[in-house]
Formats: sequence, structure tokens, C-alpha cells
Amino acid sequence: MSTSSGLFISFEGIEGAGKSTQISRLARSLEARGHRVLATHEPGGGMPAGKSIRGLLKDPAIWRELGMAEIYLYAADRAHHLESVILPALDRGEIVLCDRFLDSTRAYQGAGRGRCVDVIEALHALEPLTIRPKRTLLFDVEAHVGLARARSRGSSDGAGYDDEDLSFFERVREGFLQIAAAEPERVRIIDADASPETVAQRTLEALDDLLI
Ligand code: TMP
Repeated sequence: MSTSSGLFISFEGIEGAGKSTQISRLARSLEARGHRVLATHEPGGGMPAGKSIRGLLKDPAIWRELGMAEIYLYAADRAHHLESVILPALDRGEIVLCDRFLDSTRAYQGAGRGRCVDVIEALHALEPLTIRPKRTLLFDVEAHVGLARARSRGSSDGAGYDDEDLSFFERVREGFLQIAAAEPERVRIIDADASPETVAQRTLEALDDLLI
């Protein structure tokens, strides 16, 4: 499947790493340079069913009972997101900024929960899940820093992972760092324990070779 003329960039990191702030800033600065930008997110970026699927995945009473099916539900959400939002935007030649993608499933369900990574990889070898971002920016903060930031701002749409213990976030962070080590060309680590201005500058630098 072709990703045509657009540019697909994903943003990853644990809770409290500051992804959302940086995605908004980056979208503004790319638009100011004349690019057409679509900012979207997972889970739940697909239209029309994303919001409903997100509700299931963010509800602890539900996801705690899902077992392996949690991986399949993230994959279904992603397939719907790709077909309804991401691929059409790439076909229109837009820059797609996606807050979380496949690496979140690898890091949270794989490294964090210890679910079978082979299933994750097998699902993502099937259409339309074969699409990969051209670049992934990993916003890295220590788990205790991210968790403290996330707790201080509260969760916007449910309990999510806020009640998981610190060791869970340490495993997730380590999972992200291992993905980055395995794919250094695609995944760039950004030290996000700095002011928003500094992190925004690092973000632009990490995309420099892709933006003309
Ligand atoms: P957020 O919208 O606040 O980033 O929350 C999304 C939550 O969903 C976050 O805790 C990470 C989790 N998540 C997974 O566990 N696996 C995934 O594949 C994705 C996309 C998100």
C-alpha cells in the first residue's frame, strides 16, 4: 500500500512526556512554513467509530478484563484510523502528526503488560497495518517525572493508567528505548525533561532532514 506524497510522523512516550503540547506547537510552526498538517491521535482517531473504541480502551473496568483482546482492539482501532483518517490525509499530500501509534502497543501491551510481542508484530504485518511512520519522535522522561506531571494535571477522559505503579511506567519507558535502539533511523529520542521551548527546538531539529 502506498503512502503517496504525504509525510507520516508519530510521537511516542510515557504519560507526562509533553507530547500533546509539542504536537500543537509543531503543527503551528509547520503551518506557518506553508505545510498542510493533520494532527491526530490514538486510540480513537478514526471516524466514525474511534471515540467509541477509545471509550472501551480507556475504561479500566473493561481493559483489565480484555486480556489478549486488548491488542486486537488496539489493532482494530489503528486499522480504522489508518483507513478513515491517516491514509486519506497522506494521499492529499499532508503532513500527518500522530500522537501514539504502533510503538505504543509494543511498549504498553508488550513491554509494560508482558503480552506476546509476536502477536503484535503478526497483526502489523497485515493490511492496512503495514504502514510505518517515516519518523517517530520519542519524548523521553524518567518514569517518575512523567508520572508526577501526568498526575498533577489529572486525566481528561478517565482513569487510564494513572493508578498503575511506577514499575509499569519504567517497563514501558524501557520498551520505547529498546525500539529506538533497534530502529535509530526511524525513531529519534528527544530528551523531554527541559522547557517546552527547548523541547520544541529539539523536535524541529529531529525532523530537519525531512522538511524542505
Ligand atoms: P492518551 O490519549 O492520554 O495518550 O492515552 C492513551 C493511553 O492509551 C495511554 O495510556 C497509552 C495507551 N495506549 C496503549 O496502551 N496502547 C496503544 O497502542 C496506544 C495507542 C495507547
